[in-house]
Amino acid sequence: MKAFVQSFGCQLNVSDGEKLKGLLGDMGYSFTGDNTEADLIILNTCAVRESAEERVFGIIGEMKHLKEAKPEMIIIVSGCMTAQEHIAPKIKKSYPHVDIVVGTGAFASLPKLIEECRKGQKFGVDISEYDDFSHERKQVRESTFKASVPIMFGCNNFCTYCIVPYVRGRERSRNAEDIVSEVRGLVENGYKEIMLLGQNVNSYGKDLDGSPTFPQLLRLLDGIDGDFVIRFMSSHPKDVTNELIEAIFDCKKVAKHLHLPIQSGNDDILKAMNRNYTVRQYLDTVNKLRSQCSDFSLTTDIIVGFPNETDRQFEDTVSLLRKVKFDNIFAFIYSKRTGTKAAEIDDKISGEVKSQRMQSLLEVQREIAEQNNKRFIGRTLRVLADTVSKKRKGRITGKSDEFIIVEFDGDSGLLGEFVDVKVDAAMNWAVSGKMKEEGIENGFN
Ligand code: 5AD
Ligand code: SF4
Repeated sequence: MKAFVQSFGCQLNVSDGEKLKGLLGDMGYSFTGDNTEADLIILNTCAVRESAEERVFGIIGEMKHLKEAKPEMIIIVSGCMTAQEHIAPKIKKSYPHVDIVVGTGAFASLPKLIEECRKGQKFGVDISEYDDFSHERKQVRESTFKASVPIMFGCNNFCTYCIVPYVRGRERSRNAEDIVSEVRGLVENGYKEIMLLGQNVNSYGKDLDGSPTFPQLLRLLDGIDGDFVIRFMSSHPKDVTNELIEAIFDCKKVAKHLHLPIQSGNDDILKAMNRNYTVRQYLDTVNKLRSQCSDFSLTTDIIVGFPNETDRQFEDTVSLLRKVKFDNIFAFIYSKRTGTKAAEIDDKISGEVKSQRMQSLLEVQREIAEQNNKRFIGRTLRVLADTVSKKRKGRITGKSDEFIIVEFDGDSGLLGEFVDVKVDAAMNWAVSGKMKEEGIENGFN
């Protein structure tokens, strides 16, 4: 029996998809990347923006033909979308070829739902939240050298635009010993990049007895033997403490990069978003990092066109980009999410204005990134080679410890290895250079 699992959205959801694969693997399924030859399909959905939902509904619609060609095929919808009350009834009514809807907290019941479906049960649903969190489940990972490790689930922040606290529930941290032993096992199995995941990793441990804190957890993981890099995502700016900054600089294996979503460069918008920090406070954090390392690498998330954002308020965001000089930004046009506070605001700004703002923001960021990337020319970066370039033959890309994309000559034998690359050119999306001799030896060892 073959299963096809497709995950949408953030890395936490991708990691949930890997756990669903773990469950299916235990049930005897093997995996395929071709949905036409699958006996079971899981669409593991995302709810953070409307566009993601529309895309999934489009794909669910197309699955009707697959089911007609192979009636015994089991089609399952899981993930964040399913936690919204209206979704399961909508699927049942409009997409009757879907067999099962299972929520992010109900993975444990998936084997039973599949069994019942095989016995003829029509439309099985479980979107309840169980106490036995899904996080201690086996993950069937896509990569053999990059692993994501969820350390906490849910969010308590209720940013007014965001659906996550409604679909993922309150913050729950994993036991530190489980995390340390999982990471140790991954490193022993050759994993080179460990990405710690949580909606707000800085809140780690607050729901347990407060120990270890997130910075203490970083120190515990840094103490694990082996050659690997530790990354983490995401950090809420209001929770970046001096203790965290010290840990980043003290821990050799922790990447010198921080993803710190600011969302807007205007204080009134930040207030309306319920972000609980001001631009000044954000800049103070940036200054603390850059006083220890003048070009410390930063990336961020921006929401363009929050309801009734004025031109001036948008310009404040553009100014902020020019001030901080992020290495990369992930910018999103505001998407109205039913059930959130911001969805109640009567938004007077047109979609066209929002799109124009987005284009100009990205244009500014391209200039900044190209300028920023020039700082690496002449320097040697340690890079984890991870992709064979599809467009440029004989080229490999990877990420440096600073989270910069680095392109260089090489072949697939280097994938999953750390190599040293001397940078000789900067583009707006990456830098490029030549692998150093010792890197070549490492690569072909
Ligand atoms: N509209 C647009 N972007 C959103 N994000 C979260 N909710 C929304 C929304 N309703 C963005 C934020 C967050 C990132 C993961 O997704 O920038 O940091
Ligand atoms: Fe959403 Fe804000 Fe929580 Fe991030 S911190 S998941 S943006 S509510």
